[in-house]
Amino acid sequence: MSEKLNLTNSQKIYTEALDFCPGAIMGIRKPSNFVPGEYPIFFKSGKGMRIWDVDGNEYLDFLASYGPIIIGHQEEEIDNAVIEKIRTDSFCFNLAQPHQNELLRLLQKHIPCAEMGVLVKTGSDATSTAIRIARVHTGRDMILRCGYHGWHDWCIAVKNGIPANCYKDVDGFHYNDIDSLKKKLEEYKGKVAAVITTPIGHELNEPIQEPQSDFLNKVKELAHQHGAVLIFDEIRTGFRMSMGGAQKYYKVTPDMAVFGKAMANGYAISAVTGKREVMMSLEDKHAFISSTFFSNSLEMVAAIATIKFLEREKALDAVWKKGETIKQRSMAAIEKTGVNAFFSGIVPMPFFTFPKDSDDPTDKRYRDRRVLFFTELVRNGVFMQPFHHGYIGYRHTDADIERACSVIEEAFAVVAKAIP
Ligand SMILES: Cc1ncc(COP(=O)(O)O)c(C=O)c1O
Repeated sequence: MSEKLNLTNSQKIYTEALDFCPGAIMGIRKPSNFVPGEYPIFFKSGKGMRIWDVDGNEYLDFLASYGPIIIGHQEEEIDNAVIEKIRTDSFCFNLAQPHQNELLRLLQKHIPCAEMGVLVKTGSDATSTAIRIARVHTGRDMILRCGYHGWHDWCIAVKNGIPANCYKDVDGFHYNDIDSLKKKLEEYKGKVAAVITTPIGHELNEPIQEPQSDFLNKVKELAHQHGAVLIFDEIRTGFRMSMGGAQKYYKVTPDMAVFGKAMANGYAISAVTGKREVMMSLEDKHAFISSTFFSNSLEMVAAIATIKFLEREKALDAVWKKGETIKQRSMAAIEKTGVNAFFSGIVPMPFFTFPKDSDDPTDKRYRDRRVLFFTELVRNGVFMQPFHHGYIGYRHTDADIERACSVIEEAFAVVAKAIP
């Protein structure tokens, strides 16, 4: 096995944090979502697709801050545009700023459904806004959902602290299971305002699924048959899978779609886009969407600079190419070593899953393999998440990809030897 990392400072800051932050860290960045004791807990800096923890350990970043980093950390062109905005104009005003028009025009240019749009800040803001628009547009309440759509009351799976009334008009269906949607649409006939789905299936700790048997077109057809608005949640796929998101890649245009994460290379902004007829209900039917920070323009400036960079450099083509190398080399390593694991994911979002060997609940070999594999990766400077797909960034160099492939190959060899 490789040598364990020195994580002294991470552990020290974590212990301190336990005193003044409940659980020290919120949500998916908690140590329990990695390999506790093996992964760092606090980061200090990043440059390109390299990141450094508070103990000075260096990693190749294959989690990309859970998606926003599409180019790289400290990308000068983006950061300089933001710094210039701060220095010349400032960015937080009583009234809106014209950057919103420039950004919405760019979204309109790339995203097939984006006849109109509104800009908010987080992915959860965007999905909740889209749901409100769909409800006011149709005059109905019921929502059928598939995938993770953020932490808000209507959609989060963990129900503690949420009154049942907040999600009584929300039900789920399963990705790539068109019958599960058909059944729910029949059950709630005439009541469904929106069908919202991620365009690829990416549930936590589940292999990624691409649409099978024309799934997305069938979802669209069924939603429309039942008078519901179809929303694609493109928070992860937007500006990563293609400039126009998964809808452009799969050639299925929804009524609305939400974008966030990669659209501004790390700055907090998201967008609700959609067909004019649907989007105009926000205005015509007097729904209310507002936040003190929605009109702040720094993040708009960052998004404009990011999208222009991605356009000019054809950066997503490069991302696919780098991801394809990881995919091919990983799949070959799995085949060669015979480890019970498999690669899933669309190429820019790779994921390794370690399935169970048997139904025997005491048989934990799959878990031991996962722990050992990700321990080997992190000890050798490849930062991926054991329960979540990874992300490829534009600033991963060919040498970074080569190094990551070697580390992945070696990790599978170690696992094959230790837990055959
Ligand atoms: C598909 C999808 N939708 C919505 C969200 C919520 O975004 P945010 O965490 O920015 O609120 C996420 C976050 O991971 C996501 O992956």
